[in-house]
Amino acid sequence: MYDYHNPVLLHPSVDALVTNPDGTYVDVTFGGGGHSRAILEKLSSKGKLISFDQDEDTVARAPKDPRFTLVNHNFQFTKQYLEFLKATPVDGILADLGISSHQIDVGERGFAHRLNGPLDMRMSASNPISAAHIIQNASEKELNYIFKQYGEIPNARRLSDIIIRSRGSKDLSTIEGFKAAIATCTPGKTPAKYLSQVFQALRIAVNKEMEVLETLLNDAETLIKPGGKLVVISYHSLEDRLVKHLFQTGNLEGNRHTDLYGHISKPFDNQPNAAITPDEAEIESNKRARSAKMRIGVRNTWKRTHS
Ligand SMILES: C[S@@+](CC[C@H](N)C(=O)[O-])C[C@H]1O[C@@H](n2cnc3c(N)ncnc32)[C@H](O)[C@@H]1O
Repeated sequence: MYDYHNPVLLHPSVDALVTNPDGTYVDVTFGGGGHSRAILEKLSSKGKLISFDQDEDTVARAPKDPRFTLVNHNFQFTKQYLEFLKATPVDGILADLGISSHQIDVGERGFAHRLNGPLDMRMSASNPISAAHIIQNASEKELNYIFKQYGEIPNARRLSDIIIRSRGSKDLSTIEGFKAAIATCTPGKTPAKYLSQVFQALRIAVNKEMEVLETLLNDAETLIKPGGKLVVISYHSLEDRLVKHLFQTGNLEGNRHTDLYGHISKPFDNQPNAAITPDEAEIESNKRARSAKMRIGVRNTWKRTHS
């Protein structure tokens, strides 16, 4: 049914997000447009949807609908674009993080270790830094940070060392060449799991995924009106931790600041308290849903009085 991307937690996310059919909503990760189309179905003729995607391939999939605008740009600039479009404050924002099945399935994009192609991993062609560039130019310390932090790779130090020593003598510009260069680090029993972690770490670094998400989460309180929702679907614990912290403590570090009465002041109330995950039937029909966690924050009336 979905040729480009099978949307994860489609109805639970869109049902939670859209509570005002006349409202203005934002989908910061348009992808194949599965969530965006479902949002449009819930809106009246007065409603509006502004979607973002930095991948040039998504433009051709934009619905031709007068209520819809596609911004082919990084959602790091959501605040600037929404202000420019005079759309703030909006009724809700949805983020379905990471990459689409289409991006994974095209070998030329370099996201999948099981395909061959250039070691690229850029979500947008306008990004000057590819995975090959990082592999070829990052310091050992930087590589070690990327593999440890973003991939939780146990032998990150050894892996970084092998990469540095392969420069100049091995082909590090293609997936096949890179895999051959790090073969002595790759566990024989679970190569796919290891390579998935290595590729995830590089993808996060190439696209600055953590920094970009932090910007969106920090801006969200000024963009969403009281009662509006911030719905985030994430696929690894680093992303989910930031969202959980924001909704539970009001800051991305997870520091609890209480007032005299022991209350925590925060811009979003999480609803429900725990993350929502796909049911077995969805995981059965869509393997990508396996690692998904969705959190819903409801913007309250609290205003930040300090920076
Ligand atoms: C998981 S897919 C979204 C799928 C979409 N919900 C659907 O139903 O088809 C994530 C999409 O977000 C885009 N994306 C990820 N990070 C982005 C960013 N910082 N700025 C803009 N687009 C981004 C990717 O290019 C990809 O197309």
